[in-house]
Amino acid sequence: MRDELFRKLIIEVRDLHNVFEPRTTGTQRPGRSYLTPRTTGTQRPVRSFILGIETSCDETAAAVVENGSRIRSSIVASQLDVHSKYGGVVPELASREHLRAIVPVVRQALEEAQADLDTLAAIAVTAGPGLVGSLLVGVTYAKALCFARGLPLIAVNHVEGHIHSVLLDNPELQFPALALVVSGGHTHLFEVREPGDYRLLGKTRDDAAGEAYDKVAKLLGFGYPGGPIIDKLASHGNPRAVKFTLAKMKGNELDFSFSGLKTAVLRWTEQHDMAEEIARRKQLRNPPDWLAVTPQATLDLLASFQYTVIEELLRRASAAAEQIGAESVIVAGGVACNAGLRKQAEQQTGLRFYFPSAGLATDNAAMIAAAAFPKFRRQEFAGFDLKAQAGLSLV
Ligand code: KG4
Ligand code: ZN
Repeated sequence: MRDELFRKLIIEVRDLHNVFEPRTTGTQRPGRSYLTPRTTGTQRPVRSFILGIETSCDETAAAVVENGSRIRSSIVASQLDVHSKYGGVVPELASREHLRAIVPVVRQALEEAQADLDTLAAIAVTAGPGLVGSLLVGVTYAKALCFARGLPLIAVNHVEGHIHSVLLDNPELQFPALALVVSGGHTHLFEVREPGDYRLLGKTRDDAAGEAYDKVAKLLGFGYPGGPIIDKLASHGNPRAVKFTLAKMKGNELDFSFSGLKTAVLRWTEQHDMAEEIARRKQLRNPPDWLAVTPQATLDLLASFQYTVIEELLRRASAAAEQIGAESVIVAGGVACNAGLRKQAEQQTGLRFYFPSAGLATDNAAMIAAAAFPKFRRQEFAGFDLKAQAGLSLV
């Protein structure tokens, strides 16, 4: 079944991009070396356009980024409508939607960038971590295009992509930096000595921060994804109303834990007879004005939950920054959108924080193309045996 889908995908690649014959065999184009940035007669570096492809979870994304920093286009096709009614991402549906979207999304990214396959320096793709069926669509598609056009293929780790979503437009950022990657799948602290040189300092032992937001939202009858909904509602509540205890970590104190907090929210709802209120919210089909259907006590609960998550993140980030003597703190991943976190970060820690700009915090392909640029310069190319790796780790 999957083989059949990929056979069709490759036929689509050939037809839609007018690819008839591979122009070269092997990995190098004739007559042009892509191993170093190209130069003109006066030795000025020529623009290197990298096409990035990202399909690790529930967003089909493609982008063209020039020289690792200038976004020429960034297209994201969200599958939110498909998954929201299930309260989370359904992996089989995600792969099917990627298959549907990948060709038009890549085509649009090239068109908006006024680029075509012949003007590209390389194609970068997320190889992991993520949902294996979803990753496979992007990896197979990128390989097919590279093979057909004789372009170099660059494999990018999704987490490194998130870090580059911040490096992309903050060239002044000082190293060593601490990177806090907080998304639906990650809550990791890395030392970044320089781009490409990472050391893992701590990570969640159970749920990721974004996952905790999504699970708490689901158990309280709100929609998916829960992070943006809770973030908005939390500003209407009292963050000190419910006292949640911060997780105590045995061993590495830079590790995180969020499952205890999620359970504490569940216990609170049981003790406060919230079943009816939650059931009423669950009946609402289209995303309503959540504020109108949320009593003050629940707003206080959400504000207290968010306060505890932010405390947990900032407390460990501060300790890690101190440990490594960080000059800057990078916060990346979907949870980096959080208004409370952005507000509290510098105020509470006195450290210099960098957050992704709008559109770059949640999954996108511009960050993948940007992360690929240093690899392009170092000639770190992947072979056609590149595999989608669900559990790929950065270090
Ligand atoms: O990075 P991302 O798009 O995908 C993953 O790689 O996981 O992150 C998605 C996660 C979801 O869990 C979502 O609830 C969370 O980021 N998120 C937020 C906010 N916006 C998105 N969490 C807290 N506050 C937000 N404003
Ligand atoms: Zn992500």
